Amino acid sequence: MTSITGDLQRIKDDFSEQLRGADSSEELQTVKVAFLGKKSALTSLLKRLGSLPADERPAAGEAVNSLRDSIEAAILEKKAAIEEEESAADELKNLVDVTLPARGRGWGGIHPVAQLTQDVVEILAGIGFSVALGPEIEDDFHNFEALNIPASHPARDMQDTFYFPDGHLLRTHTSPVQVRAMLKHGAPIRIVCPGKVYRRDSDPTHSPMFHQLEGLLVEKDISVADMKGCLEVLMEGIFSRPLKSRYRASYFPFTEPSLELDIECVECSGRNPSCRICKGTGWLEVAGMGMVHPNVLRNGGIDPAVYNGFAWGLGLDRIAMLKYRLTDLRVLFEGNVPYLLSGRV
Ligand code: DAH
Repeated sequence: MTSITGDLQRIKDDFSEQLRGADSSEELQTVKVAFLGKKSALTSLLKRLGSLPADERPAAGEAVNSLRDSIEAAILEKKAAIEEEESAADELKNLVDVTLPARGRGWGGIHPVAQLTQDVVEILAGIGFSVALGPEIEDDFHNFEALNIPASHPARDMQDTFYFPDGHLLRTHTSPVQVRAMLKHGAPIRIVCPGKVYRRDSDPTHSPMFHQLEGLLVEKDISVADMKGCLEVLMEGIFSRPLKSRYRASYFPFTEPSLELDIECVECSGRNPSCRICKGTGWLEVAGMGMVHPNVLRNGGIDPAVYNGFAWGLGLDRIAMLKYRLTDLRVLFEGNVPYLLSGRV
C-alpha cells in the first residue's frame, strides 16, 4: 500500500459517479477534462510522485497510470454509447412518415388572357374562322407597307416601334398576319390571329408588350352589315349576354371605310354618371375595324375587283380586364402566381 492509495480510491469513486451522470457528448467532455486534464487531481498526483520515498515510487506510478488508463477506457466506452444514442435520436427526429398524405399543390388556373383567347377562338370557330399566327419579329413590309401605312405615319416613328439594328422590328400590331395569311392561302379566307404585340409604352395603363386579336374575312360581296353581325356574335360570346353597341367613324390606313366599335358599359350599362370604368359615358371602346382597303388586298395577292372583306383588331388585355373586372393592367404581366390563383381574376 502506498500513501496515495486513498487519493486514488477517491478519484476513482468520484469519476464513477460523474461518469454515470454524463448523458451527452458535452457532459462527457466536461468529465474528461475534469479527470484527465492538466488541472485534474490525477495530474497533480502524478506531480507529487517525485516527493514519495524512492521505494514507493514504482508501485505508486503504476497505480496512477493504471487508474488513468481505466478512466480513459471508460470514457471511450461511454462516448461510443452516447454517440449511438444521439444518432438514433437524430434519426427519429428526421424520420419521414411515408403514410402521411402528400401536401396539395393547389389547382392552378389559366391566365385570364389565355382564357379569353381560347374563348374568342372557340366563338369564332363556330362561324367558320381558323387560327393564323405570325412572327413577333417582323419586317417593315408586313408590319407597315403592305398595310398601306405611309412612310410618314407616326407608328413608324422610333418613339413607337422597337427596331432592331438590321431594320427588323417587333410587330406593333397583329395586322401583319392578315397579309401573311392572304399571301399564303389566298381568298376566300376567314382567320383569327391572337398574339403579342410591342410598343414603346410603359405606364400604369400601358405595357410595352400586350395582346391583340386580329380578324380577317375576305369573300365575295361582303358588306358592312356582315362585319357588324360578326362583331356582335363575338361581343355577345365574350360577355355571355347581348350588349348594346354603336359604331363611330374612324380612320385606319388599312381599311376604308373605318369604324370603331363601342359596347355598352359592362359595369353600369350607362346608369352610373360616376362609373369608374366608362367614366360616366356609358360606352366602352373595344375594337377598330373596317372594310379591307383594296391596296391591302392587292398586297396580299388578292384581286379587289373580285373579292372584298372586313378586318378588325382588338386589345385582349383590356377586354380581359373588363370581363374579369380587373382594376390594374399590370397584374396580367407580373406573373404573380398567388394572385392569379387567388380566384380574384
Ligand atoms: N392594327 C390596329 C391597331 O393596332 C387595330 C386594327 C384596326 C386592326 C382596324 C384592324 C382594323 O384589322 O381593321 O391599333
